[in-house]
Amino acid sequence: MDAISFSDQSPSIEIGPISTSSFPNLLKGYEQGKIAILVDENTHYHCLEFLITTFDTLREAEIIEVPSGEQSKDLAICTQLWHSLTESNFGRHDLLINLGGGVVSDLGGFVASVYKRGIPFINVPTSLLGMLDAAIGSKNGIDFLGFKNQLGSFTPALRTFVDVNWLHTLPQKEWLNGYAELLKHSLIYDAILWEELLLIDTIEKELTAAQIKRGIDIKNEIVAQDPLEKGLRKILNFGHTIGHAIEAYYLETDKPLSHGHAVAIGMLLEAHLSLQLSGLQLSDFQQIKEVVLNKFSLHLPSDKSLIWQLMQHDKKNREGQIRMSLLAAVGECKFDQHVKFVEFEQAYDSIAALK
Ligand code: GLY
Repeated sequence: MDAISFSDQSPSIEIGPISTSSFPNLLKGYEQGKIAILVDENTHYHCLEFLITTFDTLREAEIIEVPSGEQSKDLAICTQLWHSLTESNFGRHDLLINLGGGVVSDLGGFVASVYKRGIPFINVPTSLLGMLDAAIGSKNGIDFLGFKNQLGSFTPALRTFVDVNWLHTLPQKEWLNGYAELLKHSLIYDAILWEELLLIDTIEKELTAAQIKRGIDIKNEIVAQDPLEKGLRKILNFGHTIGHAIEAYYLETDKPLSHGHAVAIGMLLEAHLSLQLSGLQLSDFQQIKEVVLNKFSLHLPSDKSLIWQLMQHDKKNREGQIRMSLLAAVGECKFDQHVKFVEFEQAYDSIAALK
């Protein structure tokens, strides 16, 4: 994977090798305090040793491990983490480092944002999903009562260090998990990136660091215009209204779907709704369908009413209505689009017929 320079970047995000980044300087500010590193078993095994042997300040860091997977975005796990921080007498001058994928940064950011009304945290995303989405943009959260990200806050990380070298430790399904978000970023904002992604066959071999950086820049550009999701930022949720409901459905089964996989299926359904409601051309829908079905197997629960019910808790809803972000064209997305059950049903039945 090609290297990226440090120029032209948002000051809170650095993209490039972590060893030559401002990370060690930032750590210096915490030499007199305590540092904890949150990992899951995968990043404990693949990433932690590099971090603590490269940066002397981290040799004495407390390591806190949670099980990998969405199930860790849970209040009981938060309680355990707050317990650990309290036992170690962590305070506002101490530091939490979230070393992992989307689950680790969502969970660690939430735990840090609430503990003692907020302690500083740094995100070191190690997965494509974490780099492109979860670890940037200040959102954190956990799932609650079967609903995705039901509890959470907008709290910025002190800094996020994106080093694509971590990606070499990823299994193929994790590449796919993040790739879905990159496809989404291109569909809502950058038709040229979409055209480039269409040419990619083997993601882990062909995706370039420049394309990952473009994905991060797209998210940053959108978040900078609307940090608290009052309007434009909602377009980052294309595919997520239905995708989150599908993800929540499968989380309760013995065959959970990854976030990216659920979002890919959500994008297919929401692209169909875009065809019906927001002006997407049939040829663009056909292309989206081909890309999604080429990369992701189609899982759709037969009970569409249950999916509709799960969608009732989506954070974009207003006045009891489902509001989605839908495509007007490739590279252009409209937010606050009212979708009725009959329209959802039509899209759902059409996509289910593809199975
Ligand atoms: N993941 C969507 C957002 O950060 O707004």
